[in-house]
Amino acid sequence: MSDTLEVKVPSHFERPGHRDAVAAGIVRGALPLKFAYAGSAAHTHDRLAHQEGYRSVTGAVSFVREAMRRAGLDEVPALAEIGPGNGVSSLALLARLHDAEKPPTTFLGLDFSESLLAMARKRFESRRPDVSFAQAGWDVEAEPTAAIGEWRTGEAPITALFLGNTIGNFERPGAALRNIQRSLRIGDTLVVGATLRTGNADPEGMLTPYRNQVFRAAALEPLIAIGIDSADLDFELSYEKDEVVGHAILTRPLFLDDHELPPGHRVRCFVSRRYLPSEINDLVSCAGLRPFVSSVDESSDHLVVIAFKDEDDQAAAPALS
Ligand SMILES: C[S@@+](CC[C@H](N)C(=O)[O-])C[C@H]1O[C@@H](n2cnc3c(N)ncnc32)[C@H](O)[C@@H]1O
Repeated sequence: MSDTLEVKVPSHFERPGHRDAVAAGIVRGALPLKFAYAGSAAHTHDRLAHQEGYRSVTGAVSFVREAMRRAGLDEVPALAEIGPGNGVSSLALLARLHDAEKPPTTFLGLDFSESLLAMARKRFESRRPDVSFAQAGWDVEAEPTAAIGEWRTGEAPITALFLGNTIGNFERPGAALRNIQRSLRIGDTLVVGATLRTGNADPEGMLTPYRNQVFRAAALEPLIAIGIDSADLDFELSYEKDEVVGHAILTRPLFLDDHELPPGHRVRCFVSRRYLPSEINDLVSCAGLRPFVSSVDESSDHLVVIAFKDEDDQAAAPALS
């Protein structure tokens, strides 16, 4: 048993609108995963991200560094990361880039979670005071951002990072990639890291990294923040159709706003999709970016696709899912 005393941050939402969005998701039976990272959920995610096993799900930065080397992506003074989380893996990647031809000197963190951005800022300030850290709130699933354009200086292209299989958390990954493409300039590069789909996946093996109390608490935190007692929820994990899916199940009736939800009501509160390299390549291409390196690490079941923006939007963009 651990002898570390942990102080729990009281459950809360980051912004007033988040409460109503989470309530609507509970009633609908599907909660967008971004709420599992914001407000008090940032702290449960931070605990999760410090657990052994977390990296097995999100991927190793050494492999990302290798893929960048293979792509000849060695001039990276300006990095913009979408979804840097608590900044731990961003800092690990920065350390690996120390021998790049032009190592990072400026970093922009873009995240839905202002709370995780604040944690990342603290870590950067204490560990890498030599790197200028900027941050901006962005819901990449919702729209493009002007923040990258405002942060960049001069004409030089920048490198954007989208790592940790964050793409696997989204309902509409193609739309998110299109928002990223629209926020970049011609000549910019995007590095996408995702979890590999392996043909012979044994469902129980896929679920092992998720079968623990820290993960349960992280996935359920938005429901706890709305006022549901953790003891009134069952949590079920499954691996189906190349996705790890987590459901919260009410064990008692719940009155939420104008709705009465019966016991047994299911709320999907976690999803992590696995990909083939060709699927990420297709998603990236459909979003208007040109993939030029695709690397697979079979020992850790991760993949990295590196693409650049070579043209601006065509008049009629295809409908993206
Ligand atoms: C799986 S974590 C990955 C964190 C980090 N990149 C790593 O590898 O450890 C997902 C990150 O994406 C952010 N995120 C989730 N949904 C988002 C959205 N719709 N817009 C912007 N950021 C989002 C989360 O807040 C979190 O920081």
